[in-house]
Amino acid sequence: MLTVDQLDALRSTLETWRRAGERIAFVPTMGNLHAGHHSLIALARERADRVVASVFVNPTQFGPNEDFSRYPRTPEADAEGLSAAGCDLLWLPSVETMYPYGADNTVSIRVPQVTETLEGAHRPGHFDGVATVVARLFNQVQPDVAVFGRKDFQQLAVIRYLVRDLAFPIEIVAASTQREADGLALSSRNQYLSADERPRAAEIHRVLQGMREAVQDGRPREAVEAEAAQRLAAAGFAVDYAAVRRTDLTLPESAAAAGNAARVALIAARLGRTRLIDNLEFTA
Ligand code: PAF
Repeated sequence: MLTVDQLDALRSTLETWRRAGERIAFVPTMGNLHAGHHSLIALARERADRVVASVFVNPTQFGPNEDFSRYPRTPEADAEGLSAAGCDLLWLPSVETMYPYGADNTVSIRVPQVTETLEGAHRPGHFDGVATVVARLFNQVQPDVAVFGRKDFQQLAVIRYLVRDLAFPIEIVAASTQREADGLALSSRNQYLSADERPRAAEIHRVLQGMREAVQDGRPREAVEAEAAQRLAAAGFAVDYAAVRRTDLTLPESAAAAGNAARVALIAARLGRTRLIDNLEFTA
């Protein structure tokens, strides 16, 4: 695996591959990689001749109370894991390369509509930072296809909106969420759970499954959401939201009117100091 930290070198390598007719897949990350990220690389491998991954801890997507400087950085382990998973090139831009005028003076991209609820409401400005950095990464790498995890369901919606609205000629592929045996979604944040919190964290997945069953049984959305929040609170979570939405993240019509409709249940909740998010897609 090549590791590149200069834009010129990135562009010349990619140009060589493109001239040889090779299709390029891209997996953007913030590092501290785990098996979930490695599965994105594996999916990217299936979709292209070359796989590029980036590791960039993006300052513009952290809120004032979210500690950018303490975000875990594990460069050696990340490089080893990416190489073993089949990545061809690791792109490691500096903050100066990504934001030549400084992270506070950047051209910023605001994606409307899909950013206004759920994570967007609880983390103001977060998706502006995500859209801003992903647009830059797409301009730098110019991939044919880019892979994002379904665990960040709303982020995926933001990326799809961005790609369509700014006419990036990039196919967006969604990878399924990887889970522990008890259902807990893999996340860099799981490492912060204490020994006591870790087994309780799997309650999120069980509550999502309960929400799915309740919606499929025709229970009203508001009741399903309220019961899910109560169940999480009883298990010791501080709940940001437990929501049922259409898969475009708009509010669904009443259960009675629903047919074979695509739905998603989404949860964000804190256990101690660790904020976890997860979701479950289903039809109802
Ligand atoms: O999902 C992430 O790791 C980040 O939000 C992303 C897409 C790499 C942008 O910084």
